Amino acid sequence: MADYLLEASWSPIEGSFGRLTFTLFNLSTEPLSGFSLAYTSETRVADKHVCDGGSLKRQVAHFHEFLPPEGLSVPPGGRWRFTVEGLTRAPKHMTSGVKSAYLTLGDGRHVSVGFGDLMLEGRDGGVAPPILPPGRAEEPYSLLPWPLALGLKAGELPVVLYPAEPTRPDAVKALSLVLELYQRLYPADNVPFSLSAVEGGRAIRFVIESSIAAFAYELRFTAHEIMLSSADAAGRHYGLISLAQLLHGARADRERFKFPSFGTIADQPRYDWRGCHLDVSRQFYPVADVVRLIDILAWNKLNIFHWHLADDEAWRLEIKAYPALTEIGARRGPDEVLVPQLGDGAQTRSGHYTQQDARRIVAHAASLHIEVVPEIDIPGHSMATLFSLPELVDGQEAPDSYRSVQGYPNNALNPAVEFTYEFLGKVFDEMVTLFPGEYLHIGGDEVAHGSWLSSPLCKALMEREKLTGTAELQSYFLKRIKAMLSERGKKLVGWNEVSHGGGVDRDGTLLMAWEKPEVGIELAQQGYDVVMTPGQAYYLDMAQAEAWAEPGASWAGHAPPEHTYAYEAEGELPEVLREKMRGIQACIWTENFLSRAYFNRLVFPRLPAVAEAAWTPSARKDWDRFAAIVRMWPVL
Ligand code: ACM
Repeated sequence: MADYLLEASWSPIEGSFGRLTFTLFNLSTEPLSGFSLAYTSETRVADKHVCDGGSLKRQVAHFHEFLPPEGLSVPPGGRWRFTVEGLTRAPKHMTSGVKSAYLTLGDGRHVSVGFGDLMLEGRDGGVAPPILPPGRAEEPYSLLPWPLALGLKAGELPVVLYPAEPTRPDAVKALSLVLELYQRLYPADNVPFSLSAVEGGRAIRFVIESSIAAFAYELRFTAHEIMLSSADAAGRHYGLISLAQLLHGARADRERFKFPSFGTIADQPRYDWRGCHLDVSRQFYPVADVVRLIDILAWNKLNIFHWHLADDEAWRLEIKAYPALTEIGARRGPDEVLVPQLGDGAQTRSGHYTQQDARRIVAHAASLHIEVVPEIDIPGHSMATLFSLPELVDGQEAPDSYRSVQGYPNNALNPAVEFTYEFLGKVFDEMVTLFPGEYLHIGGDEVAHGSWLSSPLCKALMEREKLTGTAELQSYFLKRIKAMLSERGKKLVGWNEVSHGGGVDRDGTLLMAWEKPEVGIELAQQGYDVVMTPGQAYYLDMAQAEAWAEPGASWAGHAPPEHTYAYEAEGELPEVLREKMRGIQACIWTENFLSRAYFNRLVFPRLPAVAEAAWTPSARKDWDRFAAIVRMWPVL
């Protein structure tokens, strides 16, 4: 139990982003004096602010440290109250307040402080509405994503499904992989498959059928046998998942769902890029969590795991050439180089993936037909890297000469420091041994206005290369990065701002349109391959309703699951650009994700909603059917 408790409330004020009131309660038996109070919050105090009853001593992005008035002593049972007016944005939800807090005492010790939701003063906060209706399934089959075409008649529920005699060993192996996937996702349920024939079960006959499209499959049901046809292993895998899903629903909700006895399913994905991103920089997820998320992606027939491994708040991948990246760059705490952020309290928190971990995750994903796309976010979002390897900084650059939108000063790798390229070359050399996929994601987002313009090395580079301003410097940098990736046989993936200042060679470049969907169409027009990840619908950290009581972030608005489900990311994409549009992706940014319960509350059911939007043609989407099925689907 904490001896101290910090409460915060927010009052809206006309013409400003409002006022925060903090109250620190001393629940201990000793008077409290000679201390400072630190907390982390996404509702940041602006440089220009007025603090009544205390003063801001230090701030680094979301980390804030306040001092009480000179000589203040808080008696046992007493409280210290201070207010701050002058914020960088108005909070919109009760989760926009304190994420962690601690005291630093006169002797240097750090002591935990409890905290609660951000209270709203003087306005009705509303009530968070239910996020999922009971749903309705007109066709009694639990398939999610819903298939392209189906004509089925419901029948007896088989005890189990098993491979017909004879079945080739590779097909038996494929079946056992989906069996194991099911057991991991639903350890308390009956298995859908058995390797040997069982009385009362039904046989699956595997057929290789070269006329079927890549990734597609067909299921033909009869009373005594099921024929699963595909041209490739991926199609067969999706067919097996469909069978496991049908059986799962028919057992879990016998009133609504049945197993087919006659008819066919002919299915194939709408898009070939069906992604889910996970930010492991802001919060660290142990290998077991990542493996489970990949299992969930597989169950929903997603096929890309975009692993956001480095950001301002931490670098999470072991690089043998630069151990400091994880020794320094993956640790945050009151006495560490990286200060506490986004939920870190009095104790240091750290975590990274060894190269062995990365290999294991890539192999696990590959066994489920999922490709891992690793991301190192450069040149912006690089605070952890720059703190770990100070040689990357132009020592003559004015400190705090620009700030990122998240509030980090001078947080971009410098395009005029030659060591930048030597460093990244070695990082890429190690990454290509770990990640065999086609793509490497290099970020490219949110380089702050004015970045590098106070760096003498950049000024000289701009003169030499005839570059004018930050965007052209960024393009110069990214062109070199693109060449380095090409040399290593990798295609470049980046966020939409990669196109700024002239961009990079379109050939073999895929950009993710996150700022708004129209950006994706513009990028396709410019010749880039595009994946749509619009924050307004597919950023799963955004709140699911407008109400103050609803948890979540708000900078991209709020996205009810029904909106995420119905959203058509293509927008008005002209037919000639269709082949540039590779697919869609959900993004799990984790600034606010302090618990598993919070993760599940925000990510589900919106992740399966994106999965269905990625697989199923728009005309076959049905929100009520989705709602009926998704309640039986696994969460983290
Ligand atoms: C992003 O949300 N900055 C890609």
